[in-house]
Amino acid sequence: MSRAFGHDVLIIGSGAAGLGVALRLADRARVAVLSKTELAECSTFYAQGGISAVLDAEDSIESHIQDTLVAGAGLCDPEIVRLVVSRGKAAIQWLLDQGVTFTEVESEDGDRHLHLTREGGHSHRRVVHAADATGKAVETSLLARARAHPNIELFEYHNAVDLITTAKLGLTPQRVVGAYVLDRKAHKVRTFAARAVVLATGGAAKVYLYTSNPDTATGDGIAMAWRAGCRVANMEFMQFHPTCLYHPQARSFLISEALRGEGARLLLPDGTPFMKRFDPRAELAPRDIVARAIDHEMKRLGIDCVYLDISHKPADFVRRHFPTIHRRCLDFGIDITREPIPVVPAAHYTCGGVVTDARARTDIPGLYAVGETACTGLHGANRMASNSLLECLVFAELAAEDLNRHLDDLPAPPPLPAWDESQVTDSDEEVVVSHNWDEIRRFMWDYVGIVRTDKRLQRALRRVELLKQEIADYYGHFRVTSDLLELRNLIIAAELIVRSAMARKESRGLHHTLDYPERRDPPRDTILTP
Ligand code: FAD
Ligand code: SIN
Repeated sequence: MSRAFGHDVLIIGSGAAGLGVALRLADRARVAVLSKTELAECSTFYAQGGISAVLDAEDSIESHIQDTLVAGAGLCDPEIVRLVVSRGKAAIQWLLDQGVTFTEVESEDGDRHLHLTREGGHSHRRVVHAADATGKAVETSLLARARAHPNIELFEYHNAVDLITTAKLGLTPQRVVGAYVLDRKAHKVRTFAARAVVLATGGAAKVYLYTSNPDTATGDGIAMAWRAGCRVANMEFMQFHPTCLYHPQARSFLISEALRGEGARLLLPDGTPFMKRFDPRAELAPRDIVARAIDHEMKRLGIDCVYLDISHKPADFVRRHFPTIHRRCLDFGIDITREPIPVVPAAHYTCGGVVTDARARTDIPGLYAVGETACTGLHGANRMASNSLLECLVFAELAAEDLNRHLDDLPAPPPLPAWDESQVTDSDEEVVVSHNWDEIRRFMWDYVGIVRTDKRLQRALRRVELLKQEIADYYGHFRVTSDLLELRNLIIAAELIVRSAMARKESRGLHHTLDYPERRDPPRDTILTP
């Protein structure tokens, strides 16, 4: 037995979900928050468009619910949608209380109020934002609060390897009691003991070659929960954002949907608009429809990208609303106030994840999942724009409420065994890891992308099975590194996506297959059990 770090609650992830839980718990509990790299490096930091909430007198909770259900293509859980949407206003107020500054406008009578923008699927202006860098405003404010709280201990460059459960220790009844964590700077696996663990590790979009996500998005929480015995749902619904900057040096920089909300149009290379041919809502149709339309046109015409044009708006308006995008595009020689932006779709959001209930509880007692790593039922077959940060905040609150209520009933963890390295050595073949990383991301892009077929999915599954075996052998022989840990999680994420896609014999929302082009009712979740 070794000395373990001991906390009441271990939170794996320092984005909106993880920090949201930490800040709401810390007055009552000692909390540890882990981050794989620097604390602010997460999808939350890069969020652009904003956070949806009903704040306008013309808008209504019913309308936000209806839009979410329509975007989710019949697969959302209506009770969860109502629960989340009805807490939107309070979630925005909580952020304001944490010191987040959002963009405001002055009304005719001189009052200042939050500016609301619009995005795909929303029938009203209801997206609160901080210009086009909403995530940065949220993440930096929450981090500042967490740093200042005496009960929150932040561990950056700490990579969770696996959950520790009583079942793994040969004890009953089953519950989570901590995690093994690679301290990346000390090159040592440490033991974190806790009464409860919250997975807030974000999504898995790095499983695709082209993605809007930062490098942290390797599906670690989903893979850890799966290995520990939790059910995972709806992984076939990987969302492709329609508009990422197409430029060889741009690393899939996102061009916010809010541009379309403010009037930007999608054009073919000859300047022809095309979205009306695909949907009467045109540029403001839900994301699955817009991404598929772009993919269709690119394949039909054999073109590398389409164009997004906002240059008809006054230059001053564009610079004020989209300062980050304006600056970033200028770095690549594109002046968005004067010319259209070359764009392509890229993997963006994981709608599926670890199955949770309405309090963020998973199948293992004491284990919670919050944010993009969870599948709560809110998004169904396609997440509506700006509903993700909302879900992070609302479920962080729900998880914290539940933990605050039950923490005293959760027993202290038993003594935990130290990480055993006696059977492994340092790797002399790192190339295996980097090669397999590339291979997974490439075949997922080619075979499990926006449009699927049975044949492509079967090809992908054969590769998954081969690589899974190879990675397991490698993991069994060599000391863990952060790249190896992520690879081991990526192959599980890939497998869950492929198996879920194969199980769905219809096209719905983000899952579109040429072999089953129609919807089949009644709608069903795809739930995989380990
Ligand atoms: P993240 O913010 O991704 O945080 C994950 C955390 O987990 C990180 O700290 C990471 O280091 C940590 N972690 C992961 N694995 C491990 C491990 N093994 N050990 C330790 N730590 C680990 N949504 C909206 O609602 N509105 C928007 O405008 C919007 N814009 C977006 C723009 C971009 C470019 C991107 C990429 C996403 C956008 N989204 C938006 C989606 C939204 O930002 C994310 O879904 C949301 O921020 C996820 O928050 P999270 O806390 O669940 O995960
Ligand atoms: C965007 O700004 O387009 C991203 C919004 C989102 O993913 O919700």
